[in-house]
Parts: sequence; structure tokens; C-alpha cells
Amino acid sequence: MFVPLIGISENIKRIKELIEHIADTGLNVVIAGESGVGKEVVAQNLYNSSRRKNKPFVKVNCAALPEGLLESELFGFERGAFTGAARKKRGKFELANEGVLFLDEIGDMSFPLQSKLLHVLQSGEFAPLGSEKEVKTDAWVIAATNQELEEHVKKGLFREDLYYRLNIIKIFIPPLRKRPEDIPPLLDYYINKYAEQFDSKQLIKPDSEAMRMLLSYHWPGNVRELQNVLKSCMVIGNWEEVIQGLSTKTQPVSGSISTQLAIEGASVVEDLLNFEGENSPHHASFSLKKIKRKALDRVEREVISHVLDKTGWNRSKATKILKISYKTLLYKISDLNIKPPADISSKKS
Ligand SMILES: Nc1ncnc2c1ncn2[C@@H]1O[C@H](COP(=O)(O)OP(=O)(O)OP(=O)(O)O)[C@@H](O)[C@H]1O
Ligand SMILES: [Mg+2]
Repeated sequence: MFVPLIGISENIKRIKELIEHIADTGLNVVIAGESGVGKEVVAQNLYNSSRRKNKPFVKVNCAALPEGLLESELFGFERGAFTGAARKKRGKFELANEGVLFLDEIGDMSFPLQSKLLHVLQSGEFAPLGSEKEVKTDAWVIAATNQELEEHVKKGLFREDLYYRLNIIKIFIPPLRKRPEDIPPLLDYYINKYAEQFDSKQLIKPDSEAMRMLLSYHWPGNVRELQNVLKSCMVIGNWEEVIQGLSTKTQPVSGSISTQLAIEGASVVEDLLNFEGENSPHHASFSLKKIKRKALDRVEREVISHVLDKTGWNRSKATKILKISYKTLLYKISDLNIKPPADISSKKS
């Protein structure tokens, strides 16, 4: 089912413009981004904006099938091509002729298949398994990946020549947490859609407090997670409980740290500007360098304390979240004079 690309962020606006520009060029496109950001939505929008929209849109997930099956899925086979090939089967390249072939999770395609794909892209022809005769195809190849294809190339896992062939146009969709301004229009769109689809009267718009939490949440599952949150809200019937559930999900600490940091950052500046002692702006020893040091210490202290509290002072866990070494953590705890709560001060991790 076609879904319009919803969003008002600069990134989404730019992607919408790009879609209009390239829809009829037939240039190969790679769409990149984390899981759930909308790669398939962009592929469908490209197709829908092009002259090919009345032709087939064929999707193949390259990660879902083992190499042999993926090969026969893409290129088809002749009767008797291998044991069990009782009938001829047309491949997706042929089925997508004049339309779009959407190759999802392209980064997972094996090396030998990558060579075959490169051949089709170069010549516009391919031979089904068990056939000598090449078949022509005019499928527009749009690929998607949630991996760093460039890294795959560097590691020798992805053919460089195929990378350049495919990657003529690259569309990167940033994660939802980097474009929170898209959250309200997405909520509006899906609240209306689900109200129609499920005939639900339950779904209510988030109030300003709930919206504040939704805007600062980390959204590791991106728009797909936002849809799931809305669906839970339909069942549970109130935002408060749904939001409480959010903060205990996969990335609770980093999710709440960003809010914490913003609040802390603001209060540090306020405190330091109001400080009427040796660091007062009117005092001779007032120095921006000192202020910066003080502010940094204070923010670092708050973040480390917060993570330690959340992990129950499990220092190993804390180092992973903070991405610092164990030694650095111990040094910071002592340097910044961070004290554990009395009940766990005796425990070690
Ligand atoms: N900008 C958007 N506007 C409207 N719906 C969106 C948008 N982005 C994502 N969605 C919806 O979110 C869900 C996930 O999007 P999609 O399947 O396109 O993500 P994806 O990047 O292909 O994820 P994956 O890597 O897991 O395959 C879909 O139901 C899609 O309709
Ligand atoms: Mg997808």
C-alpha cells in the first residue's frame, strides 16, 4: 500500500525534492539509513513519482534468502535447470521489466551474486539459470541498506565496481531522533490513519507534556517504533502509561540523558552567569576558559552520576554506555568526587 513521505524537516524536504528530480532519470539509487527510517517508503515514492508507476514494483529482500534461492529468485530458471526445477520460473528482473526492482538489504548479497548483478546493470541483460540465452530487462534498480556499504567495500565484502554502479544517487535518511520536528506530523498522519483503519475512538493526541517526552525520546526503532507506540496507545488508552513504558525500553539511559543534559546545560550557564564571586563577569579573574572547564566538569559529573545511578553503580555497564575505559571511569569518579548512595557504597562491580 502506498504511503506518502511525511515530514517537515529540512532532510525530508530535501529528499522530497530529490525524488521529484530523479524519478524519471532511471539512475540507480541507493537508499541508506537505520532500520525503520522509511527506506521502503522513499523507494515507493520514487516509483510513484515516475512514469513507471503503472508497471510492477517488485521487492526482493536479499537478506532473507540463501544465495542459491536468491539467485533463482532474481534471475529465474529454465525447466530442468537443477533437480526440482520441474517448471520454468521467471525471475524478478524479468517481472520488474519497465517497472522497479527494489533490492532490500543489498549489503547482504553474496560476492558471486554481486558479480551477476553488476553484469545486468552494465548490459541490461541476464541469463536465467540453465539458459544460454540472455533476456533483456529494463527494470529500474533501487537498492536499500541499513549497513555502511562504504565499510563493506573497504573490508572487501562488497564489490567496489558494483558499489559505484549502484550508488549513482545516494539518499540517506537520518534517524528520527535527529529530526524530531517530523514527529508531530507523523503522529497526526498515523493517528488519522489508524482511527480509520481500526475504527478506534481510543486514540487521543498527546498533550504537551507527553509530546515533550516523545520529542526527546531516542527512537531506536525509528518510525516503525512510533507506529507501535501509537498502536499500544490505542490499546492502553492513555499516553502517560505508554510513555512510562518507553523510558524502560532498550536504550533508557542514553534516551533520558539527552533531556538531562539539556536541562543541566541550561542550569550550568544560568548558575555561572549569576555567580558573584571570583568568576563574576565583573571580577578581574573572570575567564571563559575557567567557565568552560567548570561547566564541562559539572555536566560530566551529572552524566556519569546519572548513568551510575541507572545501572545500580555497575561500573562495567556504565563504561559501556559512556564508551570510556574502566580506568577512566574510576579516575572520573574520584576526580569529580562522585559518591555512591549509602546502600551500595560497599558493593563492587
Ligand atoms: N516519512 C514517513 N512517512 C510516513 N510513513 C513512514 C515514514 N517513514 C517510515 N514510515 C513508516 O514506518 C514503517 C517503517 O518504514 P520502512 O519499512 O520504509 O522502513 P525501512 O527503512 O525500510 O526499515 P527496514 O530497514 O527495517 O526495512 C512503515 O510502516 C512506513 O510506512
Ligand atoms: Mg525496509
